Amino acid sequence: MRIVLTIKKILLGSMFLAVYFSSFSQAHNVSTGYRKPTDSLVVENLDQWQDLKFGLFMHWGTYSQWGVVESWSLCPEDESWTQRKPKHGATYNEYVKNYESLQETFNPKEFNPRKWADAAKAAGMKYVVFTTKHHDGFAMFDTKQSDYKITSSRTPFSKHPQADVTKAIFESFRAEDFKIGAYFSKPDWHTEYYWWSYFPPRDRNVNYNPEKYPERWNKYKEFTFNQIDELTSNYGKVDILWLDGGWVRPFSTIDQNVEWQRAITVEQDIDMDRIGHMARKNQPGIIVVDRTVSGKWENYVTPEQAIPEHPLEIPWESCITMGDSFSYVPNDLYKPTKVIVETLVKIISRGGNYLLNIAPGPNGDFDQEAYDRLRDLSEWMALNGSAVYSTRATAPYRNGDYYYTKSKEGDVLNVFHLSEGDEYISPASFEFPIPVDFSVERVRLLGYTGKVKWSKNGDRLIVQNPEGNLNYAATIQLEAK
Ligand code: GLC
Repeated sequence: MRIVLTIKKILLGSMFLAVYFSSFSQAHNVSTGYRKPTDSLVVENLDQWQDLKFGLFMHWGTYSQWGVVESWSLCPEDESWTQRKPKHGATYNEYVKNYESLQETFNPKEFNPRKWADAAKAAGMKYVVFTTKHHDGFAMFDTKQSDYKITSSRTPFSKHPQADVTKAIFESFRAEDFKIGAYFSKPDWHTEYYWWSYFPPRDRNVNYNPEKYPERWNKYKEFTFNQIDELTSNYGKVDILWLDGGWVRPFSTIDQNVEWQRAITVEQDIDMDRIGHMARKNQPGIIVVDRTVSGKWENYVTPEQAIPEHPLEIPWESCITMGDSFSYVPNDLYKPTKVIVETLVKIISRGGNYLLNIAPGPNGDFDQEAYDRLRDLSEWMALNGSAVYSTRATAPYRNGDYYYTKSKEGDVLNVFHLSEGDEYISPASFEFPIPVDFSVERVRLLGYTGKVKWSKNGDRLIVQNPEGNLNYAATIQLEAK
């Protein structure tokens, strides 16, 4: 009887999780049907990447001069959120012309990627993902496939010694031991091979039927293949190829439950096998993230602006903006450091990585607020980092205000305490359950050098709080016997 009840409970629990997961995934760009990579170098790279926990995402392009959303204002879809301003063009064609002319004024003179790498490193970030090309097609690297690029003589910044900003960013972060990720948009709204000017664009998708015009589509495939070849050949070691624009996908892979996927009416097979094998030949072990196209080339999933409520068993990363926007907008509202720390704790306790986006402005630097947040984070990380890196999710994951991680070996249990509200308020004593098979040898409150008093009551641990001035979140670290 008890067994039956337990089985029922498990079934109900997993049904709940399945339903929850499917609505979450549809809303936040998480595909289902994960396939574990078999290439041992990829498996190893993924495991190392899961140790890093915290990365920097940067969306940067000519659009930052207008302070509007990255690329999307070119797309006739959902005009309401794409921030088209009448002063930038009365007609669509005028708008596109002006948008693309932003190339001719792009001159981010304050560009200094070492400053970014230093600040990100101090804040505890361990990898970087940079938009080498967004949907608008403007290459932030020195491509030979197009003149719509930062190193073109039409772009004023091409005279700068670090004009190939992708190269300079990768080198600066690599020098600080970061893993390097190239964000690259498969769709390209500039090339004639994707949005052919013979037709008007209708939405984010290719604007002609690739089956009717196979030669054009083949040229687009070649163009994309060549750009990814350049990125994985000429830019030193690249650890992650982060491919956005999941609507470029074989028609057969469309998930009809997802609104933007339902809008795809034509075959957009880009031959991911050919691209993936080329990238792996150039960069053995590279993690490929063909976002939302689950299968062989989506080595981790990427919830966006959201944290799954429950642990996921597969490698995952939430990309979340520090401000409100992925791209630079003047006077963006930056999240408080406390929220950033809480987000990190929730993500790692559910087995994920946190990719925090900061957008450089048209001058080539971050807002001062972003640096302020990074500095605040560095203080917390210096004290609590040992509970963050190289950890894994562990039951009970969360209990009330307490969140758990464990060391990979399982001999250290980390218990984070969060509190609601603007300021962190720590209790007089921390009280939380611990797994029955974990027998405690030593208890530390991270950041406190004295001995802490603790006791056990059944499966609960009670730890006296010696200090009143903890910041953002407290961490109790337990070592096993
Ligand atoms: C959203 C945005 C896209 C951005 C991406 C990053 O999908 O629309 O522009 O690059 O998030 O995850």
